[in-house]
Amino acid sequence: MTDRSPEPLHRIRLWDPLVRIFHWVLATCVIVTWLWGQINPTGYLTLHFWLGYTVIGLLVFRVIWGLVGPWPARFVHFLYGPSAYARYIAGMPKRKPSRWPGHNPVGGLSVYLLLGVLALQVVSGLFADPEDFINAGPLADDFPGMVKLGTEIHHALAPVILLLVLLHLGAIAFYKVWKGENLVPSMIHGKKVVKGDVPADRIIEAVTEEAA
Ligand code: HEM
Ligand code: HEM
Repeated sequence: MTDRSPEPLHRIRLWDPLVRIFHWVLATCVIVTWLWGQINPTGYLTLHFWLGYTVIGLLVFRVIWGLVGPWPARFVHFLYGPSAYARYIAGMPKRKPSRWPGHNPVGGLSVYLLLGVLALQVVSGLFADPEDFINAGPLADDFPGMVKLGTEIHHALAPVILLLVLLHLGAIAFYKVWKGENLVPSMIHGKKVVKGDVPADRIIEAVTEEAA
């Protein structure tokens, strides 16, 4: 799929409701969990823990959905070969919408990275113990040998998550401002104008670039 080919444009149903709900619940939980861990206004991490468990549930769902869900949500759908990455990166500076049917190669990599780092964060949190005698991960007492590593990983990944989320938002702003493509509505209502071949049962209507 290159920017040069005169491919038809279609408005399609792209993101299924579960992926959209997953996304916005995940974003809310990660932001609040991160802030509660960092600021912790009450001294108790109870809210942090419960939202952290919710993130564990969300990640388990996303792994299952990445294997058996609809094609745009499947991990294999946004895993590309080296030439696709090279082509996509070469076309990124162009000031025109990519109209990609799903996560583009670079976006797909960032999704893998975000999900992977979040998984490490929630697992390390289970073993973390700041030794403040109030807050300890639920597995810290049972696996004392893991506490030091768990706490270190949990601390080290906190700024990494902040950086990845800022990059995520930066990429979305880049698409909006530089490429003239607003990706956010498709994560809300699920529909997106895309180019190239797409399954017929997903198509809502054919559109022109001007009408997109
Ligand atoms: C902590 C905050 C956030 C996290 C952890 C996060 C995480 C993710 C993940 C994991 C995906 C992939 C969705 C999937 O395939 O399951 C995604 C996609 C997306 N996110 Fe976020 N997100 C966050 C905040 C936001 C915010 C605030 C916005 C809107 C301004 C946003 C807009 C989007 C969009 C538009 C996509 C689809 C990108 C594409 O078309 O490939 N995200 N996000
Ligand atoms: C997306 C999920 C999570 C995020 C973003 C997150 C983030 C954070 C942050 C930013 C801190 C403060 C670290 C610091 O002071 O440098 C923290 C501390 C902590 N978190 Fe999490 N956390 C998450 C999930 C969990 C889970 C699931 C648990 C366990 C059930 C957990 C247990 C802890 C504990 C025990 C601390 C205190 C560690 C210490 O201050 O040494 N976290 N977390």
